[in-house]
Amino acid sequence: MKLGHFTLLSGDTMKLLPCINKKVDMIFADPPYFISDNGKTIRGKRVVVKNFGEWDKIRSDKEKDKFNREWLSLCKKVLNENGTIWVSGTLHNIYSVERCLSELQYKVLNIITWQKTDPPPSLTGTRFNFSTEFIIWAAKSSQSKYYLNFELMKQINGGKQMTDVWRIPSVAAWEKTAGYHPTQKPLRLLYRIILATTHEGDTILDPFAGSCTTGIAANLLGRNFIGIEMDEKYVSIGCQRRKEIESTTNSNKILRKISENPDEITVLVNHARPQTLQLMIRTGICYLRAGDSKGSLQITPGFERMQYICLHSGGENVHIYRLLKKGTFQIWTKNTLEKYGFHPSHAPYYIVLHFNNTKEELFHKPSNLKQKINTYQARIRPLSDFTGIY
Ligand SMILES: C[S@@+](CC[C@H](N)C(=O)[O-])C[C@H]1O[C@@H](n2cnc3c(N)ncnc32)[C@H](O)[C@@H]1O
Repeated sequence: MKLGHFTLLSGDTMKLLPCINKKVDMIFADPPYFISDNGKTIRGKRVVVKNFGEWDKIRSDKEKDKFNREWLSLCKKVLNENGTIWVSGTLHNIYSVERCLSELQYKVLNIITWQKTDPPPSLTGTRFNFSTEFIIWAAKSSQSKYYLNFELMKQINGGKQMTDVWRIPSVAAWEKTAGYHPTQKPLRLLYRIILATTHEGDTILDPFAGSCTTGIAANLLGRNFIGIEMDEKYVSIGCQRRKEIESTTNSNKILRKISENPDEITVLVNHARPQTLQLMIRTGICYLRAGDSKGSLQITPGFERMQYICLHSGGENVHIYRLLKKGTFQIWTKNTLEKYGFHPSHAPYYIVLHFNNTKEELFHKPSNLKQKINTYQARIRPLSDFTGIY
């Protein structure tokens, strides 16, 4: 696909938005969340001070409303009658954004919950761990004939209607080749948003462009981009990222990584006691109880795409192996398992998967394996949770 045009304006969005003299088809905005309070946060594996910059400093509700009202009202003037706007946030800013959108008579269509599959741990243990962000999707007005590619979304969701909860990992290290931005969004998130609500050749505006994730995803998908960013550092990261995709090899590589694939490979996550886990590794046999307490066997979607198993003991001692045959399992009795030296619990039947125990896979080991979840569905996770690559 031909790359779209890239225009990046350097300066204050409040001053530059009124200078845009053409209408845009879609707006994605990742405005300040106002969360920089000099508290502690985790970056990579390090504890760092939460200070993204002056633009993100804590503000009063009144100040937040004033700021959001101003840029959202400027955006409304450049948005096409049938265009839509996406605005991301957390509890710190999202209520203010929603208030202002309604006040300005945008029509809120959905609030997407982006559930990060790899959230950093909570440092204080005083609240539930933050693992989500919200993205409000709104039409310019209640009369707008807005666009949603519902069928495509269904297709990339494996044939099921896509819901408003999106499980997507945080930004991966390979997306930061041009430099560091503290609140960079993952390309895959923008890929989905852009495919869902724009056509090839459309123009997309991002009034808080940062490292230009929106611009990169837009251009890779043949959409034109106009971005505004006031920090020179980030402007140059954005331009560098744009240069990187001028090579067809690079752009194809990135597109492959961010494309959503209904045939995505899955991993079975299986907890076992340390001794049992060692025996599983020695024999190349992984087993789990077949069925629920009522004795029924339930095979959920994702099993047929399973290619790896991840063995762990309560979140520790994590090992990942490839199955000998994708999506294939056997049903064994308790007696058969006992012949291999296992001491399974009291269930009569077990699902058995054979894996290549001679070679351990060197994937990233997610920190949130220790979940008290019993359904097979919950144990089957996309390979991207382990690789950050799609
Ligand atoms: C949350 S970040 C956006 C990150 C972006 N989505 C990405 O993936 O890199 C917000 C950005 O808006 C910029 N910004 C904040 N206030 C601004 C303003 N008034 N005008 C222009 N840019 C602004 C900040 O410098 C920051 O880079």
